[in-house]
Amino acid sequence: MAWTTNLSTSKLAQIHAQNVLMTFQKSTLFSVEQLHFKQGDVIYLQGDNGSGKSTLMKILAGLITPTEGTVYGQGFTPKSWWQTDSLLGKAVYLHQHPYLFEGSVKYNLTYALNQLKLTASERSSRIKQAINMAQLNDLLGHHASDLSGGERQRLAIARAWIMQPKLLMLDEPISNMDKHSQRLVLAMINQLKQDGTGLLISSHQTCGLTALCQQHWHIKQKTIHTSMHVPAAEAVHQPNTTELHYGTTN
Ligand SMILES: Nc1ncnc2c1ncn2[C@@H]1O[C@H](COP(=O)(O)OP(=O)(O)OP(=O)(O)O)[C@@H](O)[C@H]1O
Ligand SMILES: [Mg+2]
Repeated sequence: MAWTTNLSTSKLAQIHAQNVLMTFQKSTLFSVEQLHFKQGDVIYLQGDNGSGKSTLMKILAGLITPTEGTVYGQGFTPKSWWQTDSLLGKAVYLHQHPYLFEGSVKYNLTYALNQLKLTASERSSRIKQAINMAQLNDLLGHHASDLSGGERQRLAIARAWIMQPKLLMLDEPISNMDKHSQRLVLAMINQLKQDGTGLLISSHQTCGLTALCQQHWHIKQKTIHTSMHVPAAEAVHQPNTTELHYGTTN
């Protein structure tokens, strides 16, 4: 199927999914004809537990392949001829139970920075800003595995913020968080939005997060409904069902 966009849109980093079907053990999870996720989009992904939010994000991140359909990226720097130009790594997926490296909080924040073309002063100012935003100052020397759930999520988002991905998918970024951590994460997500990062955010708690979003993807009845209308927080508020999650381990 031909994909047409105007020139300015086609320069933006974006992921397209077409005629996607996802099944597990021959049972359909969801199918969708078209989905487009590009820089500048801020999308609220809603769906009941087990509807397939995390699975959809993993598909868009190239971590898993859908049963049927095509998913491809556009507007990213082409890889050199000896490297595989796969979907992997184009849109960054932040797991609902973030993976952290063995080592200190500081190590986790700085590990991947070598990949970025930044001057020493740009690096240190970006790290400082992330530490302040996520209020990680007192935790820098702590081992990442000693952090609480909320602190882990703050660290993971701060690390993603430092890396400045063009497209970032945040899976339940404020679940398990107290109000203070929620506010910090919200400010970081807002900063990413101001920077033009494309954001796809799944959440059960809508409030502040929902208010940041401009589009709504809703997985229901095994398909994905897209709309430019984001429901008001009260309309979609659900009790925090985190304790009942049967999230995947992969
Ligand atoms: N690798 C897998 N093999 C078999 N079934 C799977 C696999 N991964 C996910 N599933 C199933 O697919 C369904 C959707 O899972 P997914 O984690 O995407 O849902 P979710 O909407 O993110 O749920 P939650 O709100 O609890 O995070 C679940 O029923 C899950 O058990
Ligand atoms: Mg999930």
